[in-house]
Amino acid sequence: MEVVQDTSRPPLEYVKGIPLVKYFAEALEPLQNLQPRPDDLLISTYPKSGTTWVSEILDMIYQDGDLEKCHRATIMVRVPFLEFKAPGCTTGMEVLKDTPAPRLLKTHLPLALLPQALLDQKVKVIYVARNAKDVAVSYYHFYCMAKVHPDPGTWDSFLEKFMAGEVSYGSWYNHVQEWWKLGRTHPVLYLFYEDMLENPKREIRKIVDFVGRPLPEETLDRIVQHTSFKEMKKNPMTNYNNLPTLMDYNVSSFMRKGTVGDWKNMFTVAQNERFDTDYAEKMAGFNLPFCFGL
Ligand code: A3P
Repeated sequence: MEVVQDTSRPPLEYVKGIPLVKYFAEALEPLQNLQPRPDDLLISTYPKSGTTWVSEILDMIYQDGDLEKCHRATIMVRVPFLEFKAPGCTTGMEVLKDTPAPRLLKTHLPLALLPQALLDQKVKVIYVARNAKDVAVSYYHFYCMAKVHPDPGTWDSFLEKFMAGEVSYGSWYNHVQEWWKLGRTHPVLYLFYEDMLENPKREIRKIVDFVGRPLPEETLDRIVQHTSFKEMKKNPMTNYNNLPTLMDYNVSSFMRKGTVGDWKNMFTVAQNERFDTDYAEKMAGFNLPFCFGL
């Protein structure tokens, strides 16, 4: 009888001190061969911060709001995930080979692991940040359903790991700060998930200006409508329902709630107090206004 190796839930691997999903750590070496183009656009986020959402918005902008064109493939094909690698799946770098310019690229990597060529060639970056409490909750549910991660354990132990930066991609606190600081020397549009939820059209306008692709008013309205949580949840090209070997949809869907303040349903009073104290220390001197509830 053939022995089928269980490839699910391997422990994280540390690269330059940063913990990563084992398969993503393995993808880093080939990723160093990345040859950026001047017209590439890099979407960077800490996981669970609205990456898929801003990716769909950008593809719609690049396709002039043409819905049919945006249905040409799943978001993982339209916006290659640079460090993606998983058993039985095409890697991000393989997807990239067949991606026509101008290319949209996705990464969650902290700067220490990012291919230097992207910085040297001043590839434009759109960064989306989301408040740490909602990210922790969303990440916990994602760990539970996406089997490339180690077992998350209890919510309480996961939250401790999140605060200590011992989850895949390391510290949220470092990530949001270092990409913000990068904006002093590099073209970065820094957006907030909560602003996008509050006023998507205003934030889409910022994106359109940044990428230099003006669009008529009715196209902007179509993009707002098509990229709403409700639409993206039922859209097979964006809802990630096509990866049953990696994700257990009985545990959670990828498009889970799409709200601000869901953390209030998970954090106990004690967890919240401990989190706030730790947050104040880690974010001291960094004045970006994160919004924890609309
Ligand atoms: P929740 O788990 O809180 O629902 P990422 O794409 O970076 O992995 O982020 C996933 C999070 O963004 C999930 O959060 C998901 O539901 C939310 N999301 C995805 N598309 C969205 C949309 N169109 N509007 C609002 N939230 C969205």
